[in-house]
Amino acid sequence: MNRVISISNHKGGVGKTTSVVNIGAGLANHGRKVLLIDLDPQANLTISYGLAESEKHIYDAYSSGNGLEPVSIRDNIDLIPASYNLTAAEMKLKTDVKEENYISTLIQPIKEKYDYVLIDCPPSLGLLTLKAFAASDEVIIPIQPHFLAVKGLAKIIEVVNEIKATVNKKVEISAVFVTMFDRRRILHQDVLDTIIMYFDDRVLRAKIRNNIALAEAPTAGQDIFEYDSTCNGAYDYGRIVQEIIDMEAKFGN
Ligand SMILES: Nc1ncnc2c1ncn2[C@@H]1O[C@H](COP(=O)(O)OP(=O)(O)O)[C@@H](O)[C@H]1O
Ligand SMILES: [Mg+2]
Repeated sequence: MNRVISISNHKGGVGKTTSVVNIGAGLANHGRKVLLIDLDPQANLTISYGLAESEKHIYDAYSSGNGLEPVSIRDNIDLIPASYNLTAAEMKLKTDVKEENYISTLIQPIKEKYDYVLIDCPPSLGLLTLKAFAASDEVIIPIQPHFLAVKGLAKIIEVVNEIKATVNKKVEISAVFVTMFDRRRILHQDVLDTIIMYFDDRVLRAKIRNNIALAEAPTAGQDIFEYDSTCNGAYDYGRIVQEIIDMEAKFGN
């Protein structure tokens, strides 16, 4: 079984990195072998594991010809770190056409070792994100129920469709879920209704509520299940992970 999933939303601060950490941890706790790829030049994922931003990032693996050298985080979780230099890599890519599908090329030889490859995308629909979509089977979108959030959805759908029509016919938006949800706010419920209009049954039933423990856990170098297994954040991400596992019959290949 193998699923390559981009966690993407071109808006920053919606919970992408938090989701990669905690979905990754939840999957690992269910015995899945997980590779996390930090593709954001801000390197938040890398830093939240207590690692310094590193030269062993994905573009370096490509340009040095060494291939990917994942760092072991713990049982069942490996990481490809990021570096601020990924920004320079993105610039270079613009001028170098033959590097078209390099993320996909790099993942190929090692992906059989993992059940899940989760890519933490940068907050843009720039080249790095396009490369991630080109290398992915699925895109999963965390959405903060903000008034402007819905406006961006049409754009990301368009970009995924473009990649599907050109370089990767497999890729699809397999799921979306709501983050930082507060059911008492009417706006949040309204935005959720709009999201369901766009994505129908691809909207996961579980919602990630606002939970301060999710913001605290990385400062302790822990995922939410280690930090406080009884908090709302652990419960909510646990349910999201279960729904993603339930999709294996359809998406695992
Ligand atoms: N459900 C949540 N409740 C409270 N704080 C959250 C939640 N999800 C994420 N955060 C916090 O919000 C900020 C942005 O989240 P992050 O995962 O870094 O977003 P992104 O990767 O999309 O930029 C971080 O400080 C994070 O700790
Ligand atoms: Mg992030």
